[in-house]
Amino acid sequence: MTETIASLLQEGRIYNPPEELVENSNVKKFMDKHGIKTYEELLERAKDIEWFWNEMVKEVGIEWYKEPEKTLEWNPPYVKWFIGAEYNIVNDALDRQARLRKNKVAYIWEGEPGDIRKITYGELHREVNRFANALREFGVERGDRVTIWLPMIPELPIAMLACAKIGAIHSVVFSGFSEKALLDRILDAEAKILITADGFYRGGNVIELKNRADGVLNDAPSIEKVIVYERCNVPTNMKEGRDYWWQDVVRNQPKECETEVMDANDILFILYTSGTTGKPKGVIHAHGGYAVGVAATLKLIFDLKEDDIWWCSADIGWITGHSYIVYGPLILGTTSVMYEGSPTYPKPDRWWEMIEKYAVTVFYTAPTAIRMFMRLGEEWPQKHDLSTLRLLGTVGEPINPEAWIWYYKYIGNEKCQIMDTWWQTETGMQLMSPLPITPLKPGSATKPFPGVEADVYDPDGNSLSKKNAGGFLVLTKPWPAMLRGLWRAEERYINTYWSTYKDIYFTGDAARIDEDGYFWIQGRLDDVLNVSGHRIGNSEVESALVSHPAVSEAAVVGKPHEIKGESIVAFVVLRSGISPDGKLMDSLKEHVAKEIGKIARPDEIYFVSDLPKTRSGKIMRRVCRSVMLGKDPGDISTLANPEAVEVVKEAAKFGGVTSK
Ligand code: WTA
Repeated sequence: MTETIASLLQEGRIYNPPEELVENSNVKKFMDKHGIKTYEELLERAKDIEWFWNEMVKEVGIEWYKEPEKTLEWNPPYVKWFIGAEYNIVNDALDRQARLRKNKVAYIWEGEPGDIRKITYGELHREVNRFANALREFGVERGDRVTIWLPMIPELPIAMLACAKIGAIHSVVFSGFSEKALLDRILDAEAKILITADGFYRGGNVIELKNRADGVLNDAPSIEKVIVYERCNVPTNMKEGRDYWWQDVVRNQPKECETEVMDANDILFILYTSGTTGKPKGVIHAHGGYAVGVAATLKLIFDLKEDDIWWCSADIGWITGHSYIVYGPLILGTTSVMYEGSPTYPKPDRWWEMIEKYAVTVFYTAPTAIRMFMRLGEEWPQKHDLSTLRLLGTVGEPINPEAWIWYYKYIGNEKCQIMDTWWQTETGMQLMSPLPITPLKPGSATKPFPGVEADVYDPDGNSLSKKNAGGFLVLTKPWPAMLRGLWRAEERYINTYWSTYKDIYFTGDAARIDEDGYFWIQGRLDDVLNVSGHRIGNSEVESALVSHPAVSEAAVVGKPHEIKGESIVAFVVLRSGISPDGKLMDSLKEHVAKEIGKIARPDEIYFVSDLPKTRSGKIMRRVCRSVMLGKDPGDISTLANPEAVEVVKEAAKFGGVTSK
């Protein structure tokens, strides 16, 4: 295997950060303090990772119960940070904040029906303490696992913090997952307690949780108690002696609760993520390093200051929400916006209305959401005053330059730097991203965060950094929020991340580094096509398609081809008002050939009205591919829109609109 990944999409535009942003930025202050003049110098100095991360400990105000004896112990593939430190992340995220910022709002929460709750740090502290006391009363101890299946209501962070406070390990399961997925995760973690709700509001409907959980709880013998928050007043079956209402169990609990003193390297949580096999992987994160990593990135990348209003639109059921709705912002004492429901309910301007209403200053979302709003039209954001925004961010997939430009123009009013942050459930924290001082290239996550060392390797482990050639994205040094393993799956941990290259973390992503040292992520390696011996990132072809004015979204998959190895098949969603025909199909193929090269010209295009997506918004190419090949789509229980499978199936069966 000597071929490299054809990385053909060229993007030339450069956007310099606004001077005012640079001058007042946290990162600039940090550099001034250390006499660092330039971005390059900062990256260079931070190559001394122990120095850098110790500085970050101070920068975000970490308060150990007992100081670490040593910063780093790296015995690949096992890492320990802040060795010997006694710590609990809740001390920084909550106890310290309740002392410093008692009356500052921690969460401005809005329910989908329009109900609003503003929770101060003092109140959050009290609620967490009461719930933590209730958990202790139910016999939850250090190291016990607690599964949390809650929607985006304040009780979700409260439950997480309460677990962490008493040293229990939380395992949050996204509320959009099926009960079957919930069961798998309960069984794997052998959770003692399940925390859930009667239901939640989404798209104008009530989505039930507890009654659905009942369908699988008989198969989960480890669960001793179920605590149910009453959110929607739906009739709920409660099993005597097992099921309790949240509101009842906290009622008489004391407002104080001692925080368990943990080792900085003790487990904080498990979060399951999908891999190449069907069984989800339980990614493990620890208290100390994780706290430093998430708070430092948020402070330096998103530049949060005391008076910012931060909104990360992710769901807490994913790593983005764990790190950047719960732990990161709380450690910085930030005010965050949190929203329960659908972004387009009751109208497509719900988010923009909320940004205006709460005067949000920094906003973090996903490219898929941006493309959806792009499709709905800029008239929706234009109804609102978004002028409080000063910084924007994205995460989850490479952002195609057209969506980037739309976000920049219609949401950021051409004055907000866009932080394209690359990271993973496993990395715990953002690892690659611009800082407020970094010139941007739309579509590139720019460079590794200071103190993070990344590279692109060929299959033999040679660095391709100077060659502008596609290869495998790797991390060559440990970072503080690095995963500590997979829950009870050591072999899989080693095989997945550490078997490709010796002592080097394998990300599973394809990337290239351009002549300026900027990284271009091309997507997952399992989503890389091989056409006539050339590797082409599916996302590159998709990005090219989406850059056509008629296209809103696209999924590109490979189909076995006798001569070429694989042919390229595209499923395309058109913008509203545009109807598909053979002429358009030809022009799309030509467009891709023009954008990337003839090698990437799709062989077949199917027009569809929707694409199968996970609740986090990722297009499920795997499902498109199976359906196209007439195979069983596999487990579709985690899809946000299972009906899209039929749409794709029909299109594949009837050939969409054909052209010759
Ligand atoms: C992809 C989400 C390009 C990548 C935090 C990674 C990205 C996977 C970006 C992790 C980005 C995430 N540019 N690709 N800015 N951010 N990815 O575990 O393939 O849900 O490996 O973590 O998403 O997804 P996960």
